[in-house]
Amino acid sequence: MNTTRHFFTGLIRSAALLAMLSATSVHAAEKRDVIIDTDPGADDVVALLLALASPQELNVMAITTVAGNVRIDKTSRNARLAREWAGREEVPVYAGAGKPLVRTPIYAENIHGKEGLPGVEVHEPKKPLAEGNAVQYLVDTLKKAAPHSITIAMLGPQTNLALALIQAPEITQGIKEVVVMGGAHFNGGNITPVAEFNIYADPDAAKVVLASGVKLTYVPLDVTHKILTSEARIKQIDGLNNQAGKLVSGILNEYVKADMVHYGLPGGPVHDASVIAWLIKPELFSGRQVNLVIDNREGVTHGQTIADWYDTLAQNKNVFWVENGDAQGFFDLLTQRLGLLK
Ligand code: RIB
Ligand code: CA
Repeated sequence: MNTTRHFFTGLIRSAALLAMLSATSVHAAEKRDVIIDTDPGADDVVALLLALASPQELNVMAITTVAGNVRIDKTSRNARLAREWAGREEVPVYAGAGKPLVRTPIYAENIHGKEGLPGVEVHEPKKPLAEGNAVQYLVDTLKKAAPHSITIAMLGPQTNLALALIQAPEITQGIKEVVVMGGAHFNGGNITPVAEFNIYADPDAAKVVLASGVKLTYVPLDVTHKILTSEARIKQIDGLNNQAGKLVSGILNEYVKADMVHYGLPGGPVHDASVIAWLIKPELFSGRQVNLVIDNREGVTHGQTIADWYDTLAQNKNVFWVENGDAQGFFDLLTQRLGLLK
């Protein structure tokens, strides 16, 4: 009798554990068609290299660029550099919006340098931009895409997608999911005490995307500030002894300095690469469906993202908010994939 009871108790416990795990963690990746919208940017370039080194999980259809960290000419040049360094020059790069929807443009040259790419030499890449504007490319591609088939990895201000949605709202039919590096809730912002740069740079665009009803996942500072470099982690990347490892270790060594000083931390975040790691290995992360509101009013809360983590207001849960991640698992993945490049 006792054995039977123990058996059923064990069974109930494992079922409960399984239910709990599936509620907060996520399942293994499936292959995705992806458009990467980006403002390279140091961490954007690391993200692009990670994505372009992972064809088994990500079919990168195109890279679309936007002004953000630096001006559009530099972000577009840097996207073409990342493509060249990854040996993936068949992936088209389309230049997009040079300024936000409404607010005065801001940049982050104090963090990313004048060229938008610290710690490495830049040059004019051989392959030019693709013909046509990024916004038109998004409209044309998403309009004719199979239903909910394309993922958009959003690594900068959301201006391009917002313009495309304003021009052709029906493009939501082609979107599987938009995964955004942006926002901050639990531990405050980076560009202001409450706002994260990508949202702060164009909160009106972020509101347009949020209101469109597409499936949205946010990878905010709440999680990217838990996935920090260290001397050992950068040494691991440098130890690959290939071009990609040298480039990324050079970039990260320079890029993380400002955050380490600002936050008094032993390392710095690689924000945008966390979005790509989510797409490749979502089981490294956990979060929950929440109601998200974005403040685009002028003033001290401009660009703030309010994630209702405890469902206090019982509003529509319109975003999956990633709140935690396995830092070592992230760096092991990044190092392993960079090792596949030249
Ligand atoms: O706040 C961090 C984000 O802003 C990253 O995407 C970084 O590249 C900058 O765009
Ligand atoms: Ca970025």
